[in-house]
Amino acid sequence: MAEPALENLYREGRAFPPPAEFVADALVNDEAVYSQAEKDPEAWWASHAERLRWMRKWDTVLEWAPPHARWFLGGQLNVSDNCLDRHVDSGHGDQVAYHWEGEPGDARSLTYAELRDEVCRFANALRELGVAKGDRVNIYLPMIPELPVAMLACARIGAIHSVVFAGFSSQSLVDRITDADSKVVITADGAYRKGSVVPLKENADKAMEATDNVSICIVVRRTGEDVAMTDGRDHWYHDVVEGRSTECAPEPMDAEDVLYILYTSGTTGTPKGIVHTTGGYLTQVSATHRLVFDLKPDRDVYWCAADIGWVTGHSYIVYGPLANRATSVLYEGAPDHPARDRFWEVVEKYGVTILYTAPTAIRAFMKWGPELPAGHDLSTLRLLGSVGEPINPEAWMWYAEHIGGGRCPVVDTWWQTETGAIMITPLPGVTAAKPGSAMRAFPGVKAVVVDEGGEPVPPGGGGYLTLQRPYPSMLRTLWGDDQRYRDTYWSRFGDDVYFAGDGAKLDEDGHIWLLGRIDDVMNVSGHRISTTEVESALVDHPKVAEAAVTGRRDDLTGQAIVAYVSLKGDLEGDDALARELREHVADRIGKLARPANVLFTEDLPKTRSGKIMRRLLKDIAEGRELGDVTTLANADIVSAIQASAGDSAKEE
Ligand code: PRX
Repeated sequence: MAEPALENLYREGRAFPPPAEFVADALVNDEAVYSQAEKDPEAWWASHAERLRWMRKWDTVLEWAPPHARWFLGGQLNVSDNCLDRHVDSGHGDQVAYHWEGEPGDARSLTYAELRDEVCRFANALRELGVAKGDRVNIYLPMIPELPVAMLACARIGAIHSVVFAGFSSQSLVDRITDADSKVVITADGAYRKGSVVPLKENADKAMEATDNVSICIVVRRTGEDVAMTDGRDHWYHDVVEGRSTECAPEPMDAEDVLYILYTSGTTGTPKGIVHTTGGYLTQVSATHRLVFDLKPDRDVYWCAADIGWVTGHSYIVYGPLANRATSVLYEGAPDHPARDRFWEVVEKYGVTILYTAPTAIRAFMKWGPELPAGHDLSTLRLLGSVGEPINPEAWMWYAEHIGGGRCPVVDTWWQTETGAIMITPLPGVTAAKPGSAMRAFPGVKAVVVDEGGEPVPPGGGGYLTLQRPYPSMLRTLWGDDQRYRDTYWSRFGDDVYFAGDGAKLDEDGHIWLLGRIDDVMNVSGHRISTTEVESALVDHPKVAEAAVTGRRDDLTGQAIVAYVSLKGDLEGDDALARELREHVADRIGKLARPANVLFTEDLPKTRSGKIMRRLLKDIAEGRELGDVTTLANADIVSAIQASAGDSAKEE
């Protein structure tokens, strides 16, 4: 049990400072960091850029032609050189970069020197196969060391990587290969997923057959499955790296050269290719990783328990921690496999000091009970982070008490694939924390909550979250679609105001509370999924006439997906068809997009202009107990439900 005083403080939502010894020892422990950054944001970011190794120093810090920013112009550097060689050269080659923990319990530790050598070998192999600067490379791998190796090898030779989460379907891979016009796929024979094997190579084969883009496929042996290898196109990873030199000169890259593309869901059916560049991105991911997690590279063991297939893994498993010479845990498995205390076993095994995870995982741990973490020695932990979705105060408190032992500061960090790096967060040692609030913008960042008209709301008000000043890690555009970039982010409040798509409120102290998406994007277990994408997958099924998808509140996953489906002709929905449709979506997009509920309805409620009334469907989904399948008889019933949903909304 926590100290009652602490618990009361939490419950009242009152600010509390991190422990005194933490403040004394913190990298920054002075409020002045905010005012200094505010006085001259460009100088602030430049001071962080100076911590990196530049092959040529920049001439201009920032060129801002809204909505396009360019940072550190004239500067040249290489990300893999900064993440690896720089540390080996300064005498830290023997420090562990990654303690890798495989799902079946296999483990491997790689030092900075070993990681550098492996990256060079693979970079040389890629060059030999004909991969050149600017080429796009799709990486479709599970959480094994070869995943960061492949990313860093691309960065070393200037190829642009586009990582596709291994839980995504072959169709998702097809979309990403064709959009970026990529000719290379790096994959594995299979991926472990809670004891079973996902046939990754088979998925990749289907994708490569569906497009004629790919001429080079490299396959890492992970699960030992028998896989088909196509002559001339497919190569085993272990064959191509064998005997290669461990020297590979890093390609000098302009600060604004593209480092990677990462696709994320938007409000239409087509994912957006978020473009991140080299110098600004590395500057901000390293600055935020260092200050938000108060990283002490010689002492800390840092674990970000995300998957590298998402931006959290790109920025805070690969680029930020490596740029800062962190020792990280790289974890392949799930939180509950083989047992529900697996996380705590890993924390204990490596003496993890900093843990960064998602509210959905924290809520699962809560459900499984405090006895599981209590059965392990978690005393090495000193700082906890949360990311991906709003964290409810109960989960925040549980995390602070049962994982942090009441002594670890908790940082709730808001950011997006688009921002590339943390934007709103407390700074431990400086900023007080309130359970459930991301508190305030990172120094140098200008986050403003505005009303419909774009005017800032006063303390106590609510509205839309905007970012009103460029920052180094911001997305530069959408791959191949600059118009969509402008329309999506820079049209609502003017071309120098970035609209994040999130609702937010300010409390009486002016601290920021994120309220979640206000558009047709769902957030399931911290993963963004577009309603339209799931709808397109559903209507692609031969029996489906029309579909509408909405997210409903879910205690564990934040939101769960509900699909309303009307069938063609006289077809009738039943349990079997509901199951088939759920699988169909999993097949088209990936398991994470599988609807929790499928409801058959003759018609979908629409406005006169034909727009599906998603808000109403959401009300229905949240206001009723739903079985796996429910049949809505007809539109009349829907309007009846609409009326009652409207009434109950008013009563609230
Ligand atoms: O709605 C916000 C939510 O996740 C969205 C970004 O999703 P994605 O690009 O997949 O990146 C997730 C990891 C950075 C945001 O628009 N979100 C992310 N972090 C938080 C959050 N909502 C509330 N609090 C957070 N800390």
